[in-house]
Amino acid sequence: MIEMQDVFKKYPNGVTAINGIDVRINQGEFVYVVGPSGAGKSTFIKMMYREEVPTSGTITMNGVNVAKIKNNKVPIFRRNLGVVFQDFKLLPTKTVYENVAFALEVIEAQPKFIKKRVMEVLDLVNLKHKARMLPTELSGGEQQRVSIARSIVNSPKIVIADEPTGNLDPETSWEIMNIFEEINNRGTTIVMATHNREIVNTIKHRVIAIEAGKIARDEQRGDYGYEN
Ligand SMILES: Nc1ncnc2c1ncn2[C@@H]1O[C@H](COP(=O)(O)OP(=O)(O)OP(=O)(O)O)[C@@H](O)[C@H]1O
Ligand SMILES: [Mg+2]
Repeated sequence: MIEMQDVFKKYPNGVTAINGIDVRINQGEFVYVVGPSGAGKSTFIKMMYREEVPTSGTITMNGVNVAKIKNNKVPIFRRNLGVVFQDFKLLPTKTVYENVAFALEVIEAQPKFIKKRVMEVLDLVNLKHKARMLPTELSGGEQQRVSIARSIVNSPKIVIADEPTGNLDPETSWEIMNIFEEINNRGTTIVMATHNREIVNTIKHRVIAIEAGKIARDEQRGDYGYEN
């Protein structure tokens, strides 16, 4: 479960990006975060994986008070979360297999388990046959599939994605969405910031609209609601 209580975020330059948010997201939900550019979507999401810390208020992620996590414990906290970015952030010198295996190697999982689990998630994203390739040898959609495989290899309960289809063409974006749907159907919470009107209006889920750092709308099976 994700819970925010009276959360504010003011950046050091004086910009108030989040201006009083209360929200609760239950285990297994799929939530789109929409809103105009600069509204605070990424800041909202970054506070969930502790890339940013709120100026005031409380954020609880699966029972953990995020603000109280010591800096040296942040990597351990993030192991229980999957994070997917618009620009993939794959390790360029590692193969597809190695990029996905990395998250399990750092927790010193058994080599046998690593192999089995990595192939399992590569199968889920349909990339088993490209396990030995480097990210530069893949299309954008394939790279995003690797990054999704990497985000779920640790079996996190929550996956957070900031505009995961932002760099992809429409057809590839639908393929990526099908993977997120599959992950959500298996019980994982998904929180996804997106500007993709078509997707939000077609694959219906809860929509949280952020405007000027506040929740302007929160609807089950909502619409995108902006003209883009
Ligand atoms: N690191 C930072 N330092 C200072 N101000 C920032 C920082 N990051 C974001 N901001 C500001 O906070 C506000 C919210 O930014 P944020 O990136 O959360 O918006 P967003 O809704 O994700 O926008 P977009 O749709 O363009 O990605 C903006 O005014 C932005 O300029
Ligand atoms: Mg953003």
